[in-house]
Amino acid sequence: MSRLVVVSNRVTKTDSANSGSKGGLAVGVTAAMSRDGGLWFGWNGKVENREDPASKVEVSGNIEYATVSLKPTEYAQYYKGFANSVLWPLFHQRPDLMSYDGADYQGYLSVNRKMAQRLLPLLQPDDVIWIHDYHLIPMGKMLRDAGVRSSIGFFLHTPFPPLDLLRTVPDYKEILQALMTYDLVGFQTEADYRGFYMSIGYGLKGEALPGNRYRHGDLICTAGVYPISIETESLRTVSKSGEASEEFRRLYSSLSDRQLIIGVDRLDYSKGLSQRMQAYERLLKNHTEFLRQVVYLQIAPISRGDVEAYRDLAETIDRHVGHIVGAYADFDWMPLRYLNRGFRRNTILAMYNLASVGFVTPLRDGMNLVAKEYVAAQNPEDPGVLVLSRMAGAADELDAAVQVNPYDIDSVSKSLALALRMPLDERIDRWRKMMTVLRTHNIHTWQATFLRDLQAAAS
Ligand code: G6P
Repeated sequence: MSRLVVVSNRVTKTDSANSGSKGGLAVGVTAAMSRDGGLWFGWNGKVENREDPASKVEVSGNIEYATVSLKPTEYAQYYKGFANSVLWPLFHQRPDLMSYDGADYQGYLSVNRKMAQRLLPLLQPDDVIWIHDYHLIPMGKMLRDAGVRSSIGFFLHTPFPPLDLLRTVPDYKEILQALMTYDLVGFQTEADYRGFYMSIGYGLKGEALPGNRYRHGDLICTAGVYPISIETESLRTVSKSGEASEEFRRLYSSLSDRQLIIGVDRLDYSKGLSQRMQAYERLLKNHTEFLRQVVYLQIAPISRGDVEAYRDLAETIDRHVGHIVGAYADFDWMPLRYLNRGFRRNTILAMYNLASVGFVTPLRDGMNLVAKEYVAAQNPEDPGVLVLSRMAGAADELDAAVQVNPYDIDSVSKSLALALRMPLDERIDRWRKMMTVLRTHNIHTWQATFLRDLQAAAS
């Protein structure tokens, strides 16, 4: 069997601390690699002036981790600049938050080149290489240019925008060409895939071939939809183990029979936290029977805190929280608890099970694994209700969730009321439907399907 080599900007070594701060890629890739193992290569999260010329290699279980650090300029131009101030806002349809600088694009290319050069000595001839996410789009081409002949696939965890938006980046044609050099390019949803093939057709004047294949000049690639998923079967057990944690027990006893609404998101403008808090406030204002009866716990670890748009968001959310608490809290009831830190993974899963409502309302999201994990952590005999934004990739599969348009504050507050009052038989019925989807399509089927199609595309 070929060795799997996973490449991503962020490499996550354990699943112990700070769940909620790492994002879906770390959760998905960790779970996917847990079965067959392989090599996971990427950035170690450190920014250092002096770097070690050799990658740092550590082995844990069946996974070998090889990581490199970034220099301050690389971090500024590649991670903070082009990846997170251009591609992230653009792919989440927020060109207003884009901050473009041609020098950042050059820095982005040079870090991709460095990653390719650092990976080369670690590669074996029959490896299957799987590159993840927007940080490393050009890396596949750089590996090919260096003579790598293995199959190379790419999976985008974020949404992919329509061409009209994509062209706001001056370098969009190079980005499309870089995608075309992969054997297989995977997207989360049909809409993302459509954005890609329309861009190849109209933006690059590429040609569509039978079998989801595309040609541009000498390049031929295959593309498809591969919605990422979770370790469905084991999460309920993990969630039970989290009930022993001190944090869980303290949360449980502090609720005194009140219904819990939970949100867990990186503090990111794509997550719709401002609109979500307004919807919660509307619930308290218009549905007074919930006053003193509910607690909304929003866990939101700081993310990319040195990017301006994220600093602005943090201030906006602080104001919402202050306003809700000031207007509605009582000396013995806090309607909203807002925490800028993560928790151990099993504690979070236990909290999901405790919550009557999983409140997941991004304005735009590639998939959103919190939504899927909330469902899988529930007690089958008394499940909670998922309130899910239609703008999350997960909405395509989880149509038995209470789906909402996160921009329609009034309707979200009404859906929240509906979820809090939902009778047991309807909760069970919705939960079973969602679990059927998540059982059929879990993280291992996601990985197997992508890798099978990658082999077929490469041959
Ligand atoms: C999202 C992205 C991932 C990223 C994660 C955390 O899930 O798709 O690629 O790793 O956010 O963001 P960070 O910038 O901390 O790596």
